[in-house]
Amino acid sequence: MRIDILTLFPEMFDGVLNQSIIKRAREKGHVEINVINFRTFADNKHQKVDDTPYGGGAGMVLTIQPLVSCLESIPNFKSATKILTTPSGHTYNQNKAKSLSEKKHLIIICGHYEGIDERILNYIDEEISIGDYVLTGGEIAALAIIDSVIRLIPNVINKESITEESFSDNLLEYPQYTKPYEYKGLKVPDVLISGNHEEIRKFRRFEALKKTYFRRPDLLEKAKLNNEDINFLNKIKNE
Ligand code: ADE
Repeated sequence: MRIDILTLFPEMFDGVLNQSIIKRAREKGHVEINVINFRTFADNKHQKVDDTPYGGGAGMVLTIQPLVSCLESIPNFKSATKILTTPSGHTYNQNKAKSLSEKKHLIIICGHYEGIDERILNYIDEEISIGDYVLTGGEIAALAIIDSVIRLIPNVINKESITEESFSDNLLEYPQYTKPYEYKGLKVPDVLISGNHEEIRKFRRFEALKKTYFRRPDLLEKAKLNNEDINFLNKIKNE
């Protein structure tokens, strides 16, 4: 996969894209990432990229020319999936991460200031918000998208961690424990050291359902539940 990021603040990406799993994915050639400062594409003397809004109002609006010139400089930009990060986009989730992870080429434009000249929408495929809150700019949103997409690219992380994790089947993940068995009087649930795999499976399923029921009942409506799950849920409701 290739990812091009269009931003006015390329340094914001340095740390995150050069650490841990993303760093390794880049080194192994699973993903190529280019961070481009679209200011360098401004065709005016002072490399100005914003202006006052038509119709009046507070703040500055990003102009369309530097962004479009930057887009057009990217090889095969027409066939890439072009994304704009904006609080007014569709809310991002794990399904969207999965579908983006299957693309060959993503271009992410990081919005800023009061927004971008609306005509940019003629050049992009998707507007994405990472949640109902306002960030100072689209960079952190772009990073969240990139991080969640890269880890789903085949062979970037092991397959089991992905199939068992939160949201993969619309359930939150069951609780995990590791050594020591007892810490300051807090013990690991006995079933986990019982060696009984069927009981461990049931415990984990029950706990995943319980967490989802109390924290994210909206997810449960989309989850595929079998008879055992429904019995577990009835128990949880009556507890
Ligand atoms: N830019 C500012 N806030 C944002 C958000 N919540 N999601 C995506 N881009 C943003």
